[in-house]
Amino acid sequence: MESVKVVIISEDTSIRVNLKKKLADKDIQIVGYADFKDESRLKIDGLFPDVVIVGVKVPIDPEVFSFVESMKFQSKGCAAVIATDDVTVDLVNYAARFGIRQVLPLDMKDNEFYSRVVQVNEYEKVIQAQLNIQKRVRSKVIAFFGCKGGTGKSVMATNLAVALSKRGSNVILLDMDLRFGDQNILLDLEPKDTIVELAQDPEGISIERVNAFSIMHSSGVVLLAAPKSPEYAEYIKPDHITKVIRSVRPYYEYVLVDLGSNFSDETIAALQECDEIMIVNNPDILSLKAAKSAVSILEQLGIKEKARLIMNKNVNSLIRMKDFESMLEIPFYASISADKMFNSSVNKGEPFVLRTSRTVAAKEFSSFIQRVIADKGE
Ligand SMILES: Nc1ncnc2c1ncn2[C@@H]1O[C@H](COP(=O)(O)OP(=O)(O)O)[C@@H](O)[C@H]1O
Ligand SMILES: [Mg+2]
Repeated sequence: MESVKVVIISEDTSIRVNLKKKLADKDIQIVGYADFKDESRLKIDGLFPDVVIVGVKVPIDPEVFSFVESMKFQSKGCAAVIATDDVTVDLVNYAARFGIRQVLPLDMKDNEFYSRVVQVNEYEKVIQAQLNIQKRVRSKVIAFFGCKGGTGKSVMATNLAVALSKRGSNVILLDMDLRFGDQNILLDLEPKDTIVELAQDPEGISIERVNAFSIMHSSGVVLLAAPKSPEYAEYIKPDHITKVIRSVRPYYEYVLVDLGSNFSDETIAALQECDEIMIVNNPDILSLKAAKSAVSILEQLGIKEKARLIMNKNVNSLIRMKDFESMLEIPFYASISADKMFNSSVNKGEPFVLRTSRTVAAKEFSSFIQRVIADKGE
């Protein structure tokens, strides 16, 4: 049997040393150490631990529990354990609410501590074996596409991603608008790496590498950013796109793909990999014309059945939804009114779903989110 991979999360050096000593010379591999900072989450994910041991002294900061909860270790097949100096029944019960499987005393004998960690791992693997098959099926890849810029594809992708993540789902946002991708601005992030660095990495494309080259937003959304400058787009080939989507698919419940307004080979590769394609339109003639070309190309590619119609920036327009639906022959999915909150949230780099808003557009957007969730059948 392979040795158990452990990550120790603690900000206390004496606890780190103590835990390291406890697990020394055993069939355990300490693959890394981390703290409770937001940026550590991606690092921990990339280490693929079987068990994380959270080493803390009482009273335990509530942030520790929310950190563990936000990591959603269970959905990644990883067990979370707390090692602390004062184990009480209350603490054990409280910890369980956050998905923590065991609370162990720091002064437990080394051998016993070790066997409890092994046990917890075995227990987790049994649960995972039952869940794993479902996990793959449950993954959904949704693209945002259209043949016209400025219709709202990116803003919809960002806000859907953040809303799903806040609800507890594992979400990755792939910015595959290779020339003009701006998800980093919409999320107010400054990624060090992008899809370009990933594509050039000699180790190739795998879930570990995608995670390593991505950045995490405070909502939990993982973003693989677009090239920093349009000329870098040429480094990305259709094969890179296919590999990125295939490698993340089994590990994220939602893979949202933001695309540019063109039918490049890379865009086509992404569309081929997706389960659903949200064609984002605005209620005007030019948009209708663009949507028509998009749908006819999808038809030629034999993937028209994945297309869904979204009417964004809606006003009481002369072009009615039904007309659009019948002209395009794709099913209507959602309609969102024009609203100032879109622009102000874009300018602030703060997704509007993070604020409570009671406008018509906010309500319509919630219905859209609910429909996405319902369609996935959770
Ligand atoms: N429902 C809406 N109401 C008002 N403005 C919107 C709406 N949806 C998007 N916008 C605005 O449209 C602009 C373009 O949106 P964006 O998502 O970048 O488009 P695309 O990705 O399709 O090029 C942004 O400034 C955004 O704030
Ligand atoms: Mg865009």
